[in-house]
Amino acid sequence: MPRLSLSHGLAALTCTAGLAGFDGVPSARAPAGREAERIAALFWVMTAGAVVVWLAVIALTFYTLRARPGGRSERRDRLLIIGGGAVVPTIVLTALLADGLAMLPELVAPAPEGSLRVIVTGEQWWWRVRYVPPDGSAVELANEIRLPVGKPVQFVLQSDNVIHSFWIPSLGGKMDMIPGRVTMLALHPTTTGIFRGACAEYCGTAHALMNFYVEVMEEDDFAGWLAGQAAPAAAAAEPPAVRGHDAFLANGCGACHTIAGTAAAGVIGPDLTHVGSRLSLGAGILTNEPDAFHRWIARTDRIKPGVHMPRFGMLPEDDLRALAAYLEGLK
Ligand code: CUA
Repeated sequence: MPRLSLSHGLAALTCTAGLAGFDGVPSARAPAGREAERIAALFWVMTAGAVVVWLAVIALTFYTLRARPGGRSERRDRLLIIGGGAVVPTIVLTALLADGLAMLPELVAPAPEGSLRVIVTGEQWWWRVRYVPPDGSAVELANEIRLPVGKPVQFVLQSDNVIHSFWIPSLGGKMDMIPGRVTMLALHPTTTGIFRGACAEYCGTAHALMNFYVEVMEEDDFAGWLAGQAAPAAAAAEPPAVRGHDAFLANGCGACHTIAGTAAAGVIGPDLTHVGSRLSLGAGILTNEPDAFHRWIARTDRIKPGVHMPRFGMLPEDDLRALAAYLEGLK
């Protein structure tokens, strides 16, 4: 098994931080959606509760240290133990529990009927994303979700391998993806921007390299983007891209990947029809540029240890460059 090089891992994790519109820090304390706002508010209530309890414990410690020996009252000590050890914790924890439970119905409620549905499948180790608009063509892409701002979205989450956990900290809470079950998560994005998502449940070797990006867009921009994704790939026109297209088919890449409009129709790996337009490569770990394509194809296992895609470093350098040019051109 290839060893995970620290410099490789750090480079992979930091290089996508340069994405335009993304500040590199996914934070549940910087909410950009209704559910995330409720969770951030709960965080501050819990923090305030913890600070009050901590101050009370510190005050009691000082009181105990300064108490005169022999000047104690057994009745007062018993009251302190019962009050501080049972009554106060019960009141504080019950209040925090009630506040937490009160927001649950809103957080688990499904999106209204007719809302946008996005089916996300946890793969090893990437995200398969499917849009099935009622009045349009189905769209499949990978490691990227785009949403219209101000509209509810119903995520339908599944996995056919191990348990993953779908999490976009800026938009809402986590939801497990469990083999043999379908789980649901409704979110209401309120702010445009690019947000990072991650797998929040250890799922194997490349768990930490299983990320994705979410772009929340104006409604018109979203409609235009979705229509573009439903179209087949533009045919390669320039010489390097034509050679890349031929190399893609000749080396069997189409057994795992689909590029709509070509003979490639594999369903094991990510759909690459518009891969050149994506916000990142390799499930949120590389910037989308020809050099990154080249490195990914040649040394997949070094960049993502455990990845199922074999490395193709044995291909001639010209073929690797042509493949990178072809894939980068699939906008
Ligand atoms: Cu998928 Cu961790």
